[in-house]
Amino acid sequence: MLLSYTTAFVFLGVIVAISIVKTLLPTLHNPLNALPGPWHTKLTNLRLKLAVLTGRRIHYIHSLHTKYGPYVRISPTEIAVNDPAGNKHIHGVGSNFEKSAWYNDFTVMDRPTLFTMQERRSHAARRKLFARGFSRSNLKTNWEGVIKEKVELVVRKVQEEAGRQGGKVDLLKWFTLMASDVSSHLMFGESFHTLEQGEVNEFIRVMTLALKGNGIGAELPLVRAVGKWLPFKAVRELWQTNEILDEYARVAVRNMKAAGGGKNIFANMLAESEKGEEGALDDRDVEIEATALFIAGTDTTAVSLTYLIWAVLRKPDLRIQLENEVSTLPEVYTDADTEKLPFLSAVIEETMRLYGAAPGMLPRIVPPGGVDMGGFYIPQGMTVTTHAYSAHRDPEVFPDPLEFNPRRWLGDEAAVASMKAALSGFGSGARSCLGIHLAYTELRLAAAEFFRRCQGSRLAESATPESMEFENFFLIAPRSDRCEIVVA
Ligand code: HEM
Repeated sequence: MLLSYTTAFVFLGVIVAISIVKTLLPTLHNPLNALPGPWHTKLTNLRLKLAVLTGRRIHYIHSLHTKYGPYVRISPTEIAVNDPAGNKHIHGVGSNFEKSAWYNDFTVMDRPTLFTMQERRSHAARRKLFARGFSRSNLKTNWEGVIKEKVELVVRKVQEEAGRQGGKVDLLKWFTLMASDVSSHLMFGESFHTLEQGEVNEFIRVMTLALKGNGIGAELPLVRAVGKWLPFKAVRELWQTNEILDEYARVAVRNMKAAGGGKNIFANMLAESEKGEEGALDDRDVEIEATALFIAGTDTTAVSLTYLIWAVLRKPDLRIQLENEVSTLPEVYTDADTEKLPFLSAVIEETMRLYGAAPGMLPRIVPPGGVDMGGFYIPQGMTVTTHAYSAHRDPEVFPDPLEFNPRRWLGDEAAVASMKAALSGFGSGARSCLGIHLAYTELRLAAAEFFRRCQGSRLAESATPESMEFENFFLIAPRSDRCEIVVA
């Protein structure tokens, strides 16, 4: 028997009403309702996802903190935290907030890496194994020469290209090549030599896609699943990048071994692993970690360094002060010499404050039992996430926060100490950046060499604040994907 139109409509209406009630009911009892935040975040994460897709996550979260305060509900299960005490609670030593599953989706490798590991014990063992390789002393003894060589080469290449092109060069391109050659030399045991070629290789092109694709895919798995099957090469590639990266990792690690054990940052770790230490690495781990470390250490450094030069060149008085300071270095100088330069150090701190390349989300899971934070109860299993972007723009800690002012780091000791305590551009606690000393070495040496050899350089007309506005797919990058300067 066929239903009448009226009965069919009533039937449909009941189904829709049940679905709405089923969606709304749990939201009535969600303890996160007590947190401030836009009304729609009680029901859906769609607004957040839109911000992710359009590369504006940090801007969106910052606008919410500005409007609602340090604890904001950003979806039915996520809270953004911009509070020093909360930051310490989540990331501090002994914290039992583990990284969220988002990290697994972000890399999509077939095993966890140091960056993605969630379980604390395995992470601690792997971290211990890696710590020596990335220590200040190991970098200085074994790798400083390699880094210095690439730094000198990039500045020579910038000068040569400027000579051919009426002075104009794209710094982002050249620093990406430099950081890639450093990373490939350290992680794979051989440089990609992209500086000599003057252009990115397939690995870097794909890696850049991977970062963008995974940033989106981690938040929107459905988009990733559909994307793989779309009939457009560019879109398909965006979601298949990890397979291509893997291919390169295998070749690079094989080459390293074929050269007789090679010399890369894993050499000593492999020796430790052979002794059967906890967290030991096998060949596949090395392949995966080499790629993951390459990714973690390349665009991050290149982007921060590019913003450093851009920010200094915007203000001729800063440029002249820095040029004068680095010209006091001896003809042949070491990283230890650059570490003694107060203004250069201040410029780097200020760069990391405003232009650190990873100022966005660091999502963590609330441990069993839930937590009381900032006057709110947050149940176990919820995601809490901190953002250096907002912490670094707190006017209470950093007066005139949007101003790039390295001199703030040379002032009153107590103020400097409280600013340092608020910095988290390299994360904090047990999951802070493994490559911090490598990054600082590259930043110091490259900035010193650039301002020694390219005195009087200026920004090209294209390098405007608008063109350098952040696009945020986990990392930040200039919206225009370039930063042109005119080398004197
Ligand atoms: C200016 C450059 C860099 C910036 C701004 C940066 C930033 C960060 C941040 C914010 C984290 C914390 C991530 C989180 O908790 O989710 C992190 C972790 C990490 N970084 Fe960096 N990084 C930089 C350079 C490097 C370099 C050169 C390497 C190594 C080659 C590296 C390797 C790592 C690794 C392995 C982790 C994960 C550590 C762990 O979970 O134990 N980073 N980095």
